[in-house]
Amino acid sequence: MEKFIRLTGAAAPLMRNNVDTDVVIPIRRLIGAQRGTLGRYCFEAWRYRADGSEDPEFPLNQPRWRSARILVAGDNFGCGSSREAAVWALQDFGIRCVIAPSFGDIFFNNCVQNGVLAIRLPMPAVQRLAEEAARADAPDMTVDLETQRITAPSGAAVAFDIEPERRQGLMEGLDQIGMTLKLDAEIRAFQQRDRSDRPWIYRPEETETVPRVLILAGDGIGPEVLAQVRRIIDWFIARRGLTVDLREEAFGLSAWRAHGTLMREETWNEILAADVILFGAIGSPEYAALPAEATRVDQLLRMRKELDLYDNLRPVRTIEALASTSSLRPEVIKGCDMVIVRELTGGIYFGEPRGVERVADGSERAVNTCVYTTAEIVRIARSAFALARVRSGRVCSVDKANVLPETGGLWRRTVQALRDAEYPDVDLSHMYVDNCAMQLVRNPAQFDVMLTDNLFGDILSDCASMIAGSLGMLPSASLGPPRADGRRQALYEPIHGSAPDIAGKGIANPVGGILSFALCLRHSLGLPQEAAWLEQAVERAIADGARTADIAGGGVACSTAEMGDAILAALERSP
Ligand code: IPM
Ligand code: MG
Repeated sequence: MEKFIRLTGAAAPLMRNNVDTDVVIPIRRLIGAQRGTLGRYCFEAWRYRADGSEDPEFPLNQPRWRSARILVAGDNFGCGSSREAAVWALQDFGIRCVIAPSFGDIFFNNCVQNGVLAIRLPMPAVQRLAEEAARADAPDMTVDLETQRITAPSGAAVAFDIEPERRQGLMEGLDQIGMTLKLDAEIRAFQQRDRSDRPWIYRPEETETVPRVLILAGDGIGPEVLAQVRRIIDWFIARRGLTVDLREEAFGLSAWRAHGTLMREETWNEILAADVILFGAIGSPEYAALPAEATRVDQLLRMRKELDLYDNLRPVRTIEALASTSSLRPEVIKGCDMVIVRELTGGIYFGEPRGVERVADGSERAVNTCVYTTAEIVRIARSAFALARVRSGRVCSVDKANVLPETGGLWRRTVQALRDAEYPDVDLSHMYVDNCAMQLVRNPAQFDVMLTDNLFGDILSDCASMIAGSLGMLPSASLGPPRADGRRQALYEPIHGSAPDIAGKGIANPVGGILSFALCLRHSLGLPQEAAWLEQAVERAIADGARTADIAGGGVACSTAEMGDAILAALERSP
């Protein structure tokens, strides 16, 4: 923007009131016209007569004011629809200063944003200047912004007022953005102070970076399923502007074949650095032939434990179109919509002591231990209560406190105490796990949020999968605690396993994997709308007849890739 400090030039009187911006530049001239070329249309309707000839009466057509740089105008100059193009047109015409008793507000602001000085003076002062401009042999005026003075053709001086910021912006050639950027140092200093005073209102800086997404397709049907997930991700990248740092690592048998280990150290480092892991499956009969040392540690359980992914969400919903393929009667599963919140890093899965020993008579004795602490129960219960608040407000907590009064009793007491202290608005019930298994097949629609420990959640989620028609339909999210950067590391996986019997045949159901990516959009990528689109696309594809063998009910089945095609086609139809 050109600086404005001091201007000397001819001043033209245009003492008409309410000069509309549409008169300054007719709107029809703005279509296709560019800044810098608008001067010839400025005041067009007044400068030219109907036959196209110049109107000699119009001041700006008169030789003394043809090259005017200053306009002395009437009340309410620049009123009307006020586009900044009016300022550009004046500029292109040569005008850099307008003096008037009052201006249209938006026009007035646009002037300062574009390097034109608009000066407000009382009407009598403007009138005097206009008369001088009309009478003087040489109608030259000087406008000095530094001293805030106008020198009239007669030599008389008139002082004017202007807000300091406007004056500074014009003198330095900075518009509002430029003026704000000038304060960069002050803004940063303020933010730094404020960050330490009120840390909670700031998102951690790291969350601004592109999320790192690691694909571990793993064993069995994992690679076929994840290949379809990959197509969905690519669609969101291409069509919805998703930005992710997408990586892939060999894991399980493929890693064994290539590197002689189920998981390389490099892969583990990628896992630690990832924000999101999209996991396929682990496990194969071929593991039996591997050296015991290679399979000693279950790599999935290791990830869950070491990344502390304690918060496992397993949503289960009836898909109406599949009601007839479920092993449960359609009227039993009608309208089910629940989430199993499963504790994933404690309990009997990880408890010590554990092991198998040989005893005196030569037979064996095996031990596993179920262990829970208050803190472990509290954090998973919080997740369930928070979820209930955005759903129906109901939580059913599952335990076996009648027979296991130690772990089961602690579970029940802790969940109840937390609810009473912090979530009194949530309706909490308790259910023994055996009863719960029965209720899940008797009347599953009674459940909304179901809170379970690690083992019970494993069992009950397989059982609940029949509500959705097939184990192949169910997604899961496993979330860790907020890290230093504020993000929760997360792993998304279908709850089905590696299904070695059908692996490699291209017939597996990719929906569990694809819906897991929908959970990822919602919980890790902050894209709930996109998550809903994807979930709706899955439902639409199935409603339109796409069926892999597991949900075909003996009818015609499509391939894994064809299910992917159908979901992508349905996505294309989303808003
Ligand atoms: C599940 C699976 C896992 C589990 C296995 C594969 C370790 O069954 O996620 O439900 O038991 O947790
Ligand atoms: Mg399971």
